[in-house]
Amino acid sequence: MNTKKVKTDEGEGILIITLNSPETLNALSSQILQELDEIIDKIWYEKYSGVIIRGEGRAFSAGADINELYSLENFHQAYEYLRNGQRILSKLEKLKYITVAAIDGYALGGGFELALACTFRVATKNSKLGLPEINLGILPGYGGTQRLSRLISPQKAKKLIMEGKIISAQEALEIGAIDDIAEDNQELIKKAKEIIFKFKDKNPTALRYIVELCNISSSGELEENLRTEALFCASCISSPYAKNKMKEFLEKKRK
Ligand code: COA
Repeated sequence: MNTKKVKTDEGEGILIITLNSPETLNALSSQILQELDEIIDKIWYEKYSGVIIRGEGRAFSAGADINELYSLENFHQAYEYLRNGQRILSKLEKLKYITVAAIDGYALGGGFELALACTFRVATKNSKLGLPEINLGILPGYGGTQRLSRLISPQKAKKLIMEGKIISAQEALEIGAIDDIAEDNQELIKKAKEIIFKFKDKNPTALRYIVELCNISSSGELEENLRTEALFCASCISSPYAKNKMKEFLEKKRK
């Protein structure tokens, strides 16, 4: 029987997804990716305030499974393998929930790319992050070149990826690759939850639109993105949720 390599726990309206293969430092094997994919599909229509992704043991994830990468026999297999991983991470990025990567330990290669597909990232102070693929003669293939560039600027991303440098949580915070630092694992989960709770009273649909619009801001045509912004905003303006909020504001002013 295949034991599960990804587990889920629920509490306080939050789903915690745990990569549970500490013996391989949660390397993103096909099994882990498939389980993650199934979980994302399953929770698509559920109702959570947010999702936290974490890793069991001394890594969030040490990246794509190098054994599997090595066994890919030709260009086509490698391409399909990477596209599958990209598809899952893009699906995670588009999930309607606020997602927080709670990093304790290594977040390298595909592990860091998984974190980059989340809405926010928090790491314990001893964590190590980076995209060291160049040291294996390759490059990030799960969206790292795109999402890191978008997050910290193409120039800073280029340097980090070309050097294959592994950085501390403090350095990651300074360049804007993570959003907060925690003392230890306990504080990490607390901070990850706090990020989610911060948005509890905000319109979840508007939040989702904001994430998507900010994510597409560095690609595509400005005019097209502006049209999408107007569409999303118009759909919020015409929703009962926003109408009530605006009415409340106007009535308060009249009093
Ligand atoms: N793919 C497959 N297995 C991996 C892995 C990965 N990305 N990262 C770690 N592992 C495995 C190791 O092979 C080892 O397995 P073993 O016990 O059967 O030998 C186990 O996880 C523990 O890792 P180990 O290297 O012994 O731990 P360490 O503390 O000495 O080093 C790292 C930790 C993270 C520095 C090191 O594992 C590493 O560099 N990993 C690869 C990081 C990387 O290049 N990621 C990008 C991949 S494209």
